[in-house]
Amino acid sequence: MLLFVPRPLLLPFPLPPPTAASLRRARSRPCSFKASSSMGGVEGDGRHQVKPPQVADGGAGEEEEFRLVGYSKFVRKNPRSDRFSVRGFHHVEFWCADATNVSRRFSFGLGMAIAARSDLSTGNPVHASYLLQSGDLRFLFSAPYSSSPAAIATVLPDREGFAEAAAAAAAAIPSFDSAACRRFSNAHGLGVRAVALLVDDAASAFAISVANGARPSFPPAALGGGAAAIAEVELYGDVVLRYISVSAATGSRPWSFLPGFEDTSPPSPALDYGIKRLDHAVGNVPELAPAAAYIRRFTGFHEFAEFTAEDVGTVESGLNSVVLASNDENVLLPLNEPIHGTKRRSQIQTFLDHNEGPGLQHLALSSGDVLATLRKMRAAAACGGGFEFMPPPPATYYRNLRRRAADVLTEEQMAACEELGVLVDRDDQGVLLQIFTKPVGDRPTIFLEIIQRIGCMVKEEGRKEYQKGGCGGFGKGNFSELFKSIEEYEKSLEAKQAAIPAAAGSSA
Ligand SMILES: [Fe+2]
Repeated sequence: MLLFVPRPLLLPFPLPPPTAASLRRARSRPCSFKASSSMGGVEGDGRHQVKPPQVADGGAGEEEEFRLVGYSKFVRKNPRSDRFSVRGFHHVEFWCADATNVSRRFSFGLGMAIAARSDLSTGNPVHASYLLQSGDLRFLFSAPYSSSPAAIATVLPDREGFAEAAAAAAAAIPSFDSAACRRFSNAHGLGVRAVALLVDDAASAFAISVANGARPSFPPAALGGGAAAIAEVELYGDVVLRYISVSAATGSRPWSFLPGFEDTSPPSPALDYGIKRLDHAVGNVPELAPAAAYIRRFTGFHEFAEFTAEDVGTVESGLNSVVLASNDENVLLPLNEPIHGTKRRSQIQTFLDHNEGPGLQHLALSSGDVLATLRKMRAAAACGGGFEFMPPPPATYYRNLRRRAADVLTEEQMAACEELGVLVDRDDQGVLLQIFTKPVGDRPTIFLEIIQRIGCMVKEEGRKEYQKGGCGGFGKGNFSELFKSIEEYEKSLEAKQAAIPAAAGSSA
């Protein structure tokens, strides 16, 4: 067993250890429940209020209670229990107030070319949407245009008098709702609206999900005359799980992302920092158990890993976490809940407060060479247009890295990890290199993780060699380091806020 637990090495200065009482309080919260259907969601128009049908069968999770057992007692099994065929992540959509500026910031910061667009220039009077792509990773940024008939008539003059209907018909993403998007931005700031999965049949995935307790958000709709389809169910808070299917019909298509989007040819700007795919998409919720049971029940996803506050060993803030996975374990949906009763409030609770409810906390982006990717990201940040990273761990962390990672990383690579502030963790199967950005928007909410997984390569008969999902874990051994970094960041903000009245007082 190669499991590495570096907690003692990650504390450069003495912090009060978690007391037995605080951990008991944290663990004594009720973590068992039965699937609930009363979690919040976007208030929408009629399209968002389809009444869910009754549960159709007694499949996995219907009556089964969900109970955290902790990392050490958890036994990983893959029952391959998906309720419908899931091929992988398709894209992630951010809702924002201005898609042009946000997409360009992410494009430069992450080295993702602008690959497609749907906006006024393509005849879409409803929303501006820009697609960034790097490898298999697709980020979509969408924002509403003016909903006034006069504005729409400038784009669709021949349909004046039917502005609303004409505009709805011209929207590339039919589930896009301008009013809901504005409410979303008002409540959450910059955030993820949709985690999209590529499935065999979006309509079937939707029907099966709803029949198994999913709260519908947008019923199946054909795109491009049936060339593709889209449907959505609620995931957590105002985030939806979007199902996308694409017709297998052969022939040339005028689009590569979705109908209604025009490819940018050649992709511009031609950036590539080496990011290849979305590894996992993490949600923060007030209570883990009902959220995990809800998703598990309608997707059939199995539990891949879990961590409790005691496992993570956080000192002043903390969380419980569970990871849900699809059959091939390449769609990974971790969930976090805050724990209470510790000296400082949980960082998950800080997210929930600033996000005004549950939401997507971070996206882990996988690179084939995280060190090369980070050099480019840091260079972009140095130009003022990229993303800032959390402060690096202390030097003691890297002094001990030689002892615990010399069998998988060269001395050169370990030196580069220290230079770039990369954290290293491992589980019994592989190694994880990871680093976290600071929150990417105004609020201390959503952030990014850049990772590289090493090991777990599998070669099966008649199939191309591939890497098992989740190889190297999720940085359990580094959780305490992440929290310490975040806490230091929060403390620095608090110190600045405390200084403001004093400064104001002295100048008055
Ligand atoms: Fe992560």
